[in-house]
Amino acid sequence: MKSPITKAILLVGGKGTRLAPLTNNTPKPMLKVAGKPVTEHQIVKAREAGITEIVLATSYMAEVFEPYFGDGSRFGISIKYAIEDQPLGTGGAIANAASQLNLRSDESVVIFNGDVLSGHDLHAQILLHHNRQADVTLYLTRVSDPRAYGCVPLDSEGRVLEFLEKMENPKADTINAGCYIFNARSLSMIPVNQVVSVERETFPALLAQDFSIFGYHDNTYWIDMGTPQSFIKASADLILHPELSRATEVTDAGYVAEARVSIHPTATVGGGSVLSDGVTIGAGARVMGSMIGSNAIIEDSAEVIDCYVAPGLKIRNQAKYQGQILDN
Ligand code: GDD
Ligand code: MG
Repeated sequence: MKSPITKAILLVGGKGTRLAPLTNNTPKPMLKVAGKPVTEHQIVKAREAGITEIVLATSYMAEVFEPYFGDGSRFGISIKYAIEDQPLGTGGAIANAASQLNLRSDESVVIFNGDVLSGHDLHAQILLHHNRQADVTLYLTRVSDPRAYGCVPLDSEGRVLEFLEKMENPKADTINAGCYIFNARSLSMIPVNQVVSVERETFPALLAQDFSIFGYHDNTYWIDMGTPQSFIKASADLILHPELSRATEVTDAGYVAEARVSIHPTATVGGGSVLSDGVTIGAGARVMGSMIGSNAIIEDSAEVIDCYVAPGLKIRNQAKYQGQILDN
C-alpha cells in the first residue's frame, strides 16, 4: 500500500516505573505481549500502514533494542536508533530521533508512544492528516476516566481546541491515544538537545500559535500498558483476537507456548495465556489469561487466573491466585 508518509519514530525510552517488577530487567517496550515485544507489534503495524523507515528513540536500557531488532531487515523495514544519554522527555526524544530521518520540508512523520497497542486504522489517520493538510494529527480515543491521560477537546470539524495533560477535572472524554503525525514545520518547533514534554509544552505551544491540529477519532481496541494488570490483559487480548496484531502467530488453542513447555494432559490452559520457555504445568492445574515466566512451575491442581508469574517461580500444589503479580 503506497502511503504519503513512510517515516516513523517510536518512543521507547520511558522507565516503566509503574510496571515493576516486570520492568526490573527489561524496558517496558521490550516486554512480551502475546509472545512478542510490544515494539515488534508496533513495527508490524507501522509496516502494514506503509511505513518503511523507523527510528527507535531509546534512553532507559537503550542497549537491549538493537541486538533484537538489528537493521530491521528481519521485519521488512529499516530501523535506526537514537540514544539519549539523559532522558529528554517525549518532545526532546522526538526532536533527537527526527535528526536521523532527513525529513524533507513537505514530509510528515508518524510518532508512537511505545506502550500503546491499538486496533486503530493508521493508514486512515495518515490519509486524514494528508487530506486536511494538517500540521499535526492526533489519534484520539474515548475512555470513561480521562484523568490519567492527555484530554483533547475537539470542535465540530475535528480540530483540536486544547491539549490538557493529566487534568483532575477533564473537559472531554476524548484522550490522546499516543499516536501522532507531525509535519516538518511543527517538528521543527521542538527545541533540540533539551528536555521537552510534547504533551505539556509542544502541543499547547503549537495551539497557541494557530498550528492546525486535527483529531483522528477511532474507538476500536486501545490499551495503554501502564500497569502490570493492563499488560497481562493486553497479552491475553492479542491472543484471543489475533486480528489485532499480525506479529504473533496464534493457534486455535487460546494460548501461546514457547519451546520446552510441558503441559500435563489433564491440565487446562487458555484465555490468552503465554507460557514462556521451559514452563511446566502439572496435573489438573488451571491456567487462564496469565503470563507465565520462563521455567516457572505450576504444580498439580493449582489455579492461576489473570496473573503474572515471574520466571522460575513455583506455584504450589492446589494454590489459587487471581489477578495477581506473583514475584518471588
Ligand atoms: N526516548 C524517550 N525519552 N522516551 C520517553 C521518555 C524519554 O525521556 N519519556 C517517556 N518516553 C516514552 C515512554 O516510553 C512511552 O512510550 C511514551 O514516551 C509515553 O510516556 P508514558 O510515561 O507512558 O506517558 P503516559 O502513559 O503517562 O501518558 C502518555 O500516554 C497517554 C496514552 O497512553 C501521554 O502521551 C498522554 O497524553 C496519553 O494520553
Ligand atoms: Mg504510557
